Amino acid sequence: MHCTKHAAGDLIWVGANDRRLAMFEGVYSVPYGVSYNAYLLMDEKTVLFDTVDKAVRQRFLENVTHALGGRGLDYLVVQHMEPDHSAVLEELSARYPACKIVCGAKTLAFIGQFCDFDAGPRALVVKEGDTLCTGAHTLRFLMAPMVHWPEVMVTYDSFGKTLFSADAFGSFGALGGALFADEVDFEKDYMDEARRYYTNIVGKYGAQTQALLKKAAALEIDTICPLHGFVWRENIGSILSKYALWSSCAPEERGVMLAYASVYGNTENAAEILASRLRDKGLRTVMYDVSVTPASEIIAAAFRWSHLVFASTTYNMGIFVTMDALLHDLVAHNIQNRTVALIENGSWAAASGGLMRAALEKCKNMRILERTLTLKSSLKPAQLAEIDIMAQAIADTF
Ligand code: FEO
Repeated sequence: MHCTKHAAGDLIWVGANDRRLAMFEGVYSVPYGVSYNAYLLMDEKTVLFDTVDKAVRQRFLENVTHALGGRGLDYLVVQHMEPDHSAVLEELSARYPACKIVCGAKTLAFIGQFCDFDAGPRALVVKEGDTLCTGAHTLRFLMAPMVHWPEVMVTYDSFGKTLFSADAFGSFGALGGALFADEVDFEKDYMDEARRYYTNIVGKYGAQTQALLKKAAALEIDTICPLHGFVWRENIGSILSKYALWSSCAPEERGVMLAYASVYGNTENAAEILASRLRDKGLRTVMYDVSVTPASEIIAAAFRWSHLVFASTTYNMGIFVTMDALLHDLVAHNIQNRTVALIENGSWAAASGGLMRAALEKCKNMRILERTLTLKSSLKPAQLAEIDIMAQAIADTF
């Protein structure tokens, strides 16, 4: 049975939720599920903005059929060809053979790569600034490359003052009956998921996100319709300002994130004592066991906090596997502008400290404290003074 929502004016949400997915894109845990948003504009011409993931195909098709109410589909705007938004494109196109496919040139090429039909004869290829009048509404297409694939475009409806923002301004988390961010306590219940979504999905492309923000700043926007998460119609500035901050790679808050990889608890013990000393100095701290906490949560935290401590045992003469993977991911996500302290452990040949330093030195504007704390199997009483020195060195940078 269909489950549509009125989004604004003659705009209808025809997306669907998935609460069974374990790993979004095969790598990001989604404990609260995920929504795949699609929107149908019922103007003189009917316009569908994107489709959905194959997992929710049936509900989406029911929603589109119901919302159209017997009318045909005139346009399908394809803003992003990643299959979480385009998996039903081919089937939908077959159901509505008169429907024009509105997309950029790169998108058309991607349709050919992902699908087994020739979209060319049906394509209305648009470029930056092109417009399409659908009756009362005029749609303007704006390219947003690398937010988060190269073909991405967003659409501005000047009549409804609505920005269809593709992946931008989205969030993990299924919609629990509500459609709008102002229907829930977004700051308390969803901001962490929005941060985790941005930093992991788009975080690498801060400069490109800033370019999109610049385009958005020139528009009068009453409503933002992203492809995941809630629709924004109130307090839009709050999500725009978060994106401005996150995309600048500047820390969001002053405090210390400690992430440790510990086989038998001794590296963890040193990290915990350091965290306790930092708290004694009035600094805020958060801690993660990198072997337990999903990497996407730690990456989001690393983007949030100003100071980072990494503590890892040495394993096969390298960094412990889970910490190695985390640092690789962090570097790939372009983490920068942070102060870092390192703790290494090695029962016979500690090597993880130097290797962690080398990994993080690839990042821009990282201040890595010179003195690495080295443990040989476990922290000894004589080393408590070294912990104090490290805590003070961190505090001195606040
Ligand atoms: Fe939600 Fe980049 O796809």
